[in-house]
Amino acid sequence: MKVLLLGPNGQLGHDIGAAHAAAGESFDLIPLGRDRLDVARPDDIGAALEGAAFDVLINCTSYHKTDEVEDNGGLAMAVNAHAPQAMAEACARRGARFVHISTDYVFGGDRTRTTPLAEDAPTAPVNVYGASKALGETLVRHASEDAVILRVASLFGVAGASGKGGNFVETMIRLARERGALSVVDDQVMSPTATADIARAVIALVTGGASAGTYHVVNSGQASWFDFASEIIAMAGIDATVSPCASDQFPTRAARPRYSVLDNRKTCEALLPMPDWRDALGRYLVAKGHVAAGR
Ligand SMILES: NC(=O)c1ccc[n+]([C@@H]2O[C@H](COP(=O)([O-])OP(=O)(O)OC[C@H]3O[C@@H](n4cnc5c(N)ncnc54)[C@H](OP(=O)(O)O)[C@@H]3O)[C@@H](O)[C@H]2O)c1
Repeated sequence: MKVLLLGPNGQLGHDIGAAHAAAGESFDLIPLGRDRLDVARPDDIGAALEGAAFDVLINCTSYHKTDEVEDNGGLAMAVNAHAPQAMAEACARRGARFVHISTDYVFGGDRTRTTPLAEDAPTAPVNVYGASKALGETLVRHASEDAVILRVASLFGVAGASGKGGNFVETMIRLARERGALSVVDDQVMSPTATADIARAVIALVTGGASAGTYHVVNSGQASWFDFASEIIAMAGIDATVSPCASDQFPTRAARPRYSVLDNRKTCEALLPMPDWRDALGRYLVAKGHVAAGR
């Protein structure tokens, strides 16, 4: 089986490569980076994929600098909506499965929400990035009957997000060491998730098969960004204080969902159990050398 991976050098793409190696390379994983296919030009995608041999296409590319995207809707629609549509069409033409990565930011418009969102909850994005990803999901479903959409959230992985220059864990550790005190919003609640755990679910999906459709592939549990930061600083053993604050103390260009926790029961049943985010964070801190193994 040949599996083409778009976005191989990103945070998630890197860990899919690592999980593939750890699982014994039971299929061919073929990386296709930006140098060989620029997905900001969706019209080029069909022809580029026509010449490649593959049974599964995994799309980890994205334009996800959430604040910057507010003023660059055209690029966001190209990368996050029309490119995945072209990929799904190319897959449908050759009978290949399309695995597309989406986001919890397709939600957020239901401001009274306080319970985890299942896969069939109505999407209601609150920013341009979320709207572009929601449109991408719709176009992918229309283009291919064998598409699998994996919604992920609040990622941390050893490679760091290439689009964002790191991740939240690394930012909190750096700022805590520099300043000794952090103020972090406690009115946005989400599903912190390790890309290493998503990558294992992706390998299980490719090797074991699963029905087409949408899956919420997030670590178990939920946290506000304040909860998450507090756990990072405690686990890393950094002598710093973490204080809660409200989002309006840190105004951002793009609105953020107040509650976007994803219900992962379908993934746990169909793909593999997803560990608690604190467990995932502990493994990440060891992998990055912030904490000694076995501590
Ligand atoms: N990061 C998060 O917290 C988060 C949260 C929810 C959902 N997600 C979703 O999860 C997925 C993976 O995110 P991530 O954190 O792994 O992202 P990432 O580290 O920024 O990786 C994104 C990848 O997309 C590639 N890419 C971007 N624009 C491209 C273009 N025009 N042509 C070709 N390749 C392009 C990048 O290539 P280069 O390496 O060349 O830059 C990179 O490999 C995305 O679908 C994202 O929307 C992420």
